[in-house]
Amino acid sequence: MKDLKYYYDKAIKNHFALGAFNFCGLETLQGIVNACKNLNSPAIIAVSESALNYMGNYTIALANIAKQETDGLFLHLDHGKSFDICKKAIELGFDSVMIDGSDLSIEENIELTKQVCDYAHSRGILVEGELGQIKGIEDDISKQKDIYTNPDAALYFVDKAKVDSLAISIGTSHGAYKFSGEQTLRFDILDNIEKRLGTFPLVLHGASTINKNCIDIINNNGGNIVNANGVPENLLQIAAREHNIVKINTDSDLRIGITAMVRKILAESKDLIDPRKYLGSGREKVQNIVEEKIKNILYSANQL
Ligand code: G3H
Ligand code: 13P
Ligand code: ZN
Repeated sequence: MKDLKYYYDKAIKNHFALGAFNFCGLETLQGIVNACKNLNSPAIIAVSESALNYMGNYTIALANIAKQETDGLFLHLDHGKSFDICKKAIELGFDSVMIDGSDLSIEENIELTKQVCDYAHSRGILVEGELGQIKGIEDDISKQKDIYTNPDAALYFVDKAKVDSLAISIGTSHGAYKFSGEQTLRFDILDNIEKRLGTFPLVLHGASTINKNCIDIINNNGGNIVNANGVPENLLQIAAREHNIVKINTDSDLRIGITAMVRKILAESKDLIDPRKYLGSGREKVQNIVEEKIKNILYSANQL
C-alpha cells in the first residue's frame, strides 16, 4: 500500500522529497490539490494547531474531499505542542502528526515525543519529532549558536523517542524574514547528522523561498514588507536530491501568493465585492506555486 511510510522510504532511495504544504481554508487547499492532481503527485497537506482551531470541524471534511480528488495526499498535524493535540488529531483521522518538543530540554522532549509515539504507533500513525530550534522572525539566529541540531543528540533522540522522521535545524526559519546575512544552510551539520543516522528520514521546516515578485506585488498594492528573504531554490534542490530530507515544509510562500493576488485585484478593481474573484485568483496562484515547487525542487515523475 502506498502509505506515507512508502513515500518516505522511496524518497530516501530515489533522492527526492515530498512537499508538505500548509492550508488554512478552502482556497489554499484547492490550490494544493489542483497542483497535485495536475502533476499526478503525492503531497502532505499540513495543518498547524492554530489552523485546526481556525477551520474547526471543517478541517477533516475538507481533507477527506481533497483525498477523494487525487491520490497520495496525507493529512499531517504540523507543530503539535502537546500530547493532547496529537491525540486529538489522531482521533480525528490525521495520517501523521508532528510533536514539537524542541523548546524543552532533550530529556523532556524525548519523554513527550515517546508518549506520542507509543499512542500513534499502536494506531498505525507516523510521528515526526523535532530537535534543535527552527526559529521565526522574532529570533536572532546569529546570537544562538546552539539552535542547530546537534548530530550526536539527534542519534540519541531518535533512538530513545522512536520517531519515524526528524525535523532538524540547519539554518532555515519560519516566516518571511529568514536571513539577516548570507542566505545559506549548514549542509556540514546535515552531513554529520546523516553520518550518525544513516538513511533515516529527515524533515526541513521553514523552507519557503519568498518570491520577490509576489513581495513586489504586495508592496506595489498597499503592502509594506521590507527585507523579506527565503531559502534559495538551489539549496532546497540540494536538500531534496543529495540528502535524506524526505519532507520539505512550505507555508509562507502560499500565504504570500494569495495575499499578492488579493491585494492586486482589489487595488485594480475598486468596486469588486465578489470574494470568488480575488480568492479564486489566490487559489490559482497557490496552484502555480505548488506546481513550480514540485517540478523545480521536489521530484520528477520518474522518481516516484
Ligand atoms: O510552522 C508554522 C506554520 O507556518 C504555521 O503557522 O500557526 O500561523 O498556522 P500558524
Ligand atoms: P515557511 O514559513 O518557510 O513556509 O515554513 C513553513 C513550515 O515550516 C511549516 O511547518
Ligand atoms: Zn515548521
